[in-house]
Amino acid sequence: MNEIRDLEQELMAAVRAAGDLAALEAVRVAALGKKGRVSELMKALGGMSAEERKTLGPLYNGLKDRLTDAITQRRQALEAAALAARLEAERVDVTLPVRGEPQGSIHPVSQVMDEVIEIFADMGFSVAEGPDIEDDFHNFAALNFPPGHPAREMHDTFYLEPNEAGERKLLRTHTSPVQIRTMMKQKPPVRIIAPGRTYRCDSDATHTPMFHQVEGLVIDRETHMGHLKGCLEAFARAFFEVELVEMRFRPSYFPFTEPSAEVDIGCAFKEGEIAFGEGDDWLEILGCGMVHPRVIANVGLDPNEYQGFAFGCGIDRLAMLKYGIPDLRQFFYSDVRWLRHYGFSALDIPALGQRGVQ
Ligand code: DAH
Repeated sequence: MNEIRDLEQELMAAVRAAGDLAALEAVRVAALGKKGRVSELMKALGGMSAEERKTLGPLYNGLKDRLTDAITQRRQALEAAALAARLEAERVDVTLPVRGEPQGSIHPVSQVMDEVIEIFADMGFSVAEGPDIEDDFHNFAALNFPPGHPAREMHDTFYLEPNEAGERKLLRTHTSPVQIRTMMKQKPPVRIIAPGRTYRCDSDATHTPMFHQVEGLVIDRETHMGHLKGCLEAFARAFFEVELVEMRFRPSYFPFTEPSAEVDIGCAFKEGEIAFGEGDDWLEILGCGMVHPRVIANVGLDPNEYQGFAFGCGIDRLAMLKYGIPDLRQFFYSDVRWLRHYGFSALDIPALGQRGVQ
């Protein structure tokens, strides 16, 4: 009997002393494994008399049960300690900034695009997109530039190599093809703006081969020129952050609008700076007009039922005007000093609620 008690004490002490899971497993195998000391005792029961078995059997079983429990408990304690140690070692302080000072800045073109989107979103417009590589139909024909029409010459188009069918794709010369794409897939009422890249073979201080435009389109049953003017006025006030903006609608010509206008805003040049709103000078900011009935018919809508307005505006131009950037080409030089000077913080998100779009 004493031997069994001594064995139990010895094994229990070994369990307590096991410092990690591997050591504990070694103790378990040595006691309860196939050839373990407790297993050997159990096996010996088979060769004993019924009498001996009756007394020793419960003792051995008791030993085995208590030992098994002790090992289980020790294992759980060791596992919990191992997990706690790992959590401690792998702890990440999520309150630490990823890097110290923010690197880089938002390009003025991206900033102005965000501002424009924000202003028109407040007026209920959504953003539409189209591909940079367009076909003749969307960029010209559907917009009422028939083949050979002189207005095509106004756009110095970049053409791609013709395909097997002889069809030449092109880099879109304006964002107006997005009007066509939108009207062909979305039933009126339509209220979209389409900001994006545009391309023309042109390069000087105020022209780059790639530039940015934002197109606007509203199609509904009773949209008229007054809506167009009100919409553009609200935009100019919010964008230039002035209460009053004098605007001038000059008659103009675009194949896809009738009537068409170019819009200037009043400004004053004072000591080399531009002040927007009022003044003796005018600055052209966009082209616009009532969508030509033929364009509406070209997309499969009935021009007697639907009408609307459109406008197109150079984003780079807006950025130059608003942020006083003199040379357009610098937009695309990737000069870090220029970007640092004219760039915006990533967190400088335009909040037009405060600027009062009514
Ligand atoms: N697509 C014209 C251009 O690039 C700009 C434009 C003028 C767009 C009048 C319009 C518009 O939607 O109505 O020169």
